[in-house]
Amino acid sequence: MPSELAIIIPTYNERENILVMVDKLAAVLRNLDWEVIFVDDDSPDGTAEIVREIAGKNPRVRCLQRVGRRGLASACIEGILASSAPVVVVMDADLQHDESILPEMLAMIRSGADLVIGSRYKDGGSTGELSSFRVQISQAATSFSRIVMKHAVTDPMSGFFMMKRPFFEQVVRNLSGKGFKILLDILVAAKDDAVIREAPYTMRRRKFGESKLDATVIWDFFTLIIYRIFGRIIPYRFLSFVAVGFTGIFVQLFFLWLGFRILKIEFLLAQIVATLGAMTSNFILNNQLTFNEQKLKGKGFLSGLLGFYLACSLGAVINVAVADMLFNRSIPWWLASVLGAVAGAVWNYAITATFIWRAGLGKTTR
Ligand code: GDD
Ligand code: MN
Repeated sequence: MPSELAIIIPTYNERENILVMVDKLAAVLRNLDWEVIFVDDDSPDGTAEIVREIAGKNPRVRCLQRVGRRGLASACIEGILASSAPVVVVMDADLQHDESILPEMLAMIRSGADLVIGSRYKDGGSTGELSSFRVQISQAATSFSRIVMKHAVTDPMSGFFMMKRPFFEQVVRNLSGKGFKILLDILVAAKDDAVIREAPYTMRRRKFGESKLDATVIWDFFTLIIYRIFGRIIPYRFLSFVAVGFTGIFVQLFFLWLGFRILKIEFLLAQIVATLGAMTSNFILNNQLTFNEQKLKGKGFLSGLLGFYLACSLGAVINVAVADMLFNRSIPWWLASVLGAVAGAVWNYAITATFIWRAGLGKTTR
């Protein structure tokens, strides 16, 4: 019998949680044909092996292992696409999402909803023992997300939601597949007349393993919103690259102040050191934030850094050349200068994305 419900569970280092999770699902879904797909990004703790071991005994369990890839949103999308069930639900592996509301969510789908969101903020729900810091991040992100969202829901940051397959198929080509916030992406892509409902639940505490939400994830979230505001015209990664570039201005000024004003080094030398400092910090930040999925480590990090210096010096030459050319064609001085900087930034971005992080420019338009 084909499954009526597929549970899609993205995993990264969750080995202790898998068996408990499967047992909990089995208990609550007794009267249903279901399957669970764990989408694992080659976790170093061997999560995928554990899943396959359980799958050897339980045909409802499947493992989709991705090698050389990372990302919660893309893992969910690929897991959903790997199943044929008419209804799919995404949930975390760490037992924080309350599986006991699955039958209620399914009932809502069967009575006409396209999308049912497990909500911590709807009446009857709660963030449970989530730290107040995490609740604040979650609420800030929720308010911020209202800028781009037309559907009013209480918990667009939820990682726990159920959908009808036809609804998912309508939106899938408009999803960015980036970062943590796949539900927000789905809400942005959903048509105005989509039927969306929410089911309250109380979030549990994580027992085993640790949260993967970190500064990179938060950065990704805010750049994603900015990207949405700009209507997808400017590639998402380029925005991140430019934002990092802005931080470089301050790093450069700081080093210059330190060298020139405090240590009394000659201006030219201080400026060279300051520029190198800014390029180094830009490289580190871009490696961590902009090109997180292609992050360079070890030897690759060093050769990448050298390549980055080289690309940026050429970018500076292009910047000056373009500005000078425009200025000589009687473009106002400030506009010529800004356009020179834009040309330099586009060059730096295009060259480093292609040759240093090998991101592929096609992939940057999310
Ligand atoms: N395949 C894959 N790849 N899975 C991942 C990755 C990844 O790169 N990063 C995280 N996961 C998995 C984790 O193993 C876990 O099952 C799930 O995604 C959620 O990750 P957590 O690390 O537990 O996130 P969290 O608890 O901090 O955040 C959760 O709550 C947020 C709301 O506060 C998530 O559900 C978020 O989606 C949600 O917005
Ligand atoms: Mn979690």
